[in-house]
Order: sequence, then C-alpha cells, then structure tokens
Amino acid sequence: MKLYAFVGCILLLCFANVNAQSIASKNVFASGKVWLDEKGEVINAHGGGVVYQNGKYYWFGEKRGASASEGVNVYSSADLYNWKFERLALAQDAQDTSSDITKGCVMERPKVIYNSVTKQYVMWFHLELKGKGYSAARAAVAVSNSITGPYKFVKSFRPNGNMSRDMTLFKDDDGAAYLLYSSRENYDLRIAKLTDDFLSVTTKDTMLFSNHREAPALFKYDKKYYLITSGCTGWQANKASLHTTDNLWGKWLESPINPMIGNNADKTFGGQSTYVLPIANKPNQFVFIADEWHPSNLKDSRYYWLPIQLSTLIPTVTWMDEWQLNWFDNH
Ligand code: GAL
Repeated sequence: MKLYAFVGCILLLCFANVNAQSIASKNVFASGKVWLDEKGEVINAHGGGVVYQNGKYYWFGEKRGASASEGVNVYSSADLYNWKFERLALAQDAQDTSSDITKGCVMERPKVIYNSVTKQYVMWFHLELKGKGYSAARAAVAVSNSITGPYKFVKSFRPNGNMSRDMTLFKDDDGAAYLLYSSRENYDLRIAKLTDDFLSVTTKDTMLFSNHREAPALFKYDKKYYLITSGCTGWQANKASLHTTDNLWGKWLESPINPMIGNNADKTFGGQSTYVLPIANKPNQFVFIADEWHPSNLKDSRYYWLPIQLSTLIPTVTWMDEWQLNWFDNH
C-alpha cells in the first residue's frame, strides 16, 4: 500500500512538473494556436501593441468577452515567448454612466508610448461610446506614472474634428510621436503629430492616402517608414498592403505586391494587422503582429506573430506554423 502511495506521489509530481514546464517555458511563436500566460490562462490582449521598457516587453491589448469590450489588459515578458498577466491596465467605469468609458463602451487597438519629459506612460485607443455602434469614431487618451497602470482616463475626441476609428501610435527616433488613424468612414488614412506631452493632437494633421484602409502598423527601418494596413471588411480577413515613404509628411508609395507570402496570403493568412514590434537593441529585427478575429467569441481570437524579412526587395512576411527568434540570425 505504501509503495503504491509512493509511486502515485512520484507520478503526480512528474505530471505537475511536465504541466508547469509546458506552461512556463515556451520558446516558439505558434501563430493561430491558443496562447497561454504563465499561469495557464488564455492571453486576452487583442488589437494590441507592445512596448519595451527597462529590459521587459509589455503587451497591451483589448480584453474581450464573447463580444463585450472589457477594458485594456497588460502582460509582461522578458523573452517575448512567456507572458505574465500584470493587470487590467484600463478599466471601464462601472459607476459613472455619464463617463465616455462607462461600462458598455468599446475600447479597441490600445497603444502605449512613454513620454520621457513628463515621465508618463500615455495610452491611446479607439473609443466607441456605449450604445452608439461605431458612430462616435473617437480617439481616447489615458495616462499612468507606472507602465502597468492602472491608467487614468483623460479624454476622448475626434482629432481636429475628424472621425477616428482604427489607429496606432508611432514614436520616431527624435522623440516626436504621431497618431495614425482611419477617418471619413475609413476612406482616409490620416496622420497627426502629437503635442509634446503626447496627450493631444496638434493641428499638424494630414491625409496619407485615401483608399479605404485600416488597421495601421508602422515601422521605421534604415531611414524609411513602412506602413502595413488592411482593407475594411470588419472582422473578416482581407488583403494587406504595404506603403512606404522617406518622410512622414511626404508622398506615400504603395508597394505593387502584397507583403504576405504563403497559404491564404491574399487574406493575410486569416488575420488583420495590429502592430509591428521592433525587437529591443536589434535594429534589423521586426515582428509583424496580427489578430485572427473570431467574431462569435472575440475572446478566443488568436494572435499571429511573424518575422519581417528585410533582405527581400520590399519587406515581406512569410507564414510559418512555428518559429523562434534565432530565425533572424539567418535572414
Ligand atoms: C475591423 C477593425 C476592428 C474592429 C472591427 C469591428 O475593421 O479593424 O478593430 O473595429 O472592424 O467590426
């Protein structure tokens, strides 16, 4: 009897250990699979963006229920594979029904940047007011003194009076920051320079191009700016495009080819762009981040993280079921 109990205990310990390892020591990106955090919970951070600060990456994204928008979650990681849930970084307001972010509003595509002058973390997101569908079309701002928050809601508005739906933030090498946003019922993609405190837009605001694009993800490599966008088909996947420019306020050229390569490349593999992550201290390494939306259960939407190949004539993204960061050593 004692022997059975002893063997049972050993087996239990082994099982617990295997289980813990499978949760705690991931070392691949498996796009489209369910991604668990360090505690084994499904990562709930859609339409997200990632910031690197003091040796760690912080992944901000939409917390979703089956359809509800439930605020903005933040996770942290030192290696980009293993994520720790930090907290609900920005909650909806459960008390004040007159607040722009009262429970029932829709918060999408949160992006955070750090302002080294005010020493504040500034979050921007796409806000739709409760009960108004997608008609409010506002940009919204929240701030925090610590990266994981909780963030304090500041305001929501239409930048320079323009509708603002899908959006992203971009901080340039000189410290200036920009809001890129889909405007005029998503027909126009616009850029606005932020004020020095990053809390508002300046009137330096212009149209990049007008061909019905959304889901902007911008990165800079070798003095050129690259912008990946999607078409406008709601939660359904469509074809990505790539625009380039040498000057954010200059002429943007559309690449004649789709940057995605592989099965279902004409539908961005089934996903939609949300962010391009520059790997810290590796000037040539960028990760394309997309969402595979599951509109019948948004919480179950999946993530694609794929490396951007820069050795090709134009940057491309090739589908891989699994890959590791050492992919960059040979490309
Ligand atoms: C997509 C957009 C998503 C979400 C969705 C709602 O086009 O990129 O962020 O707004 O529409 O249908």
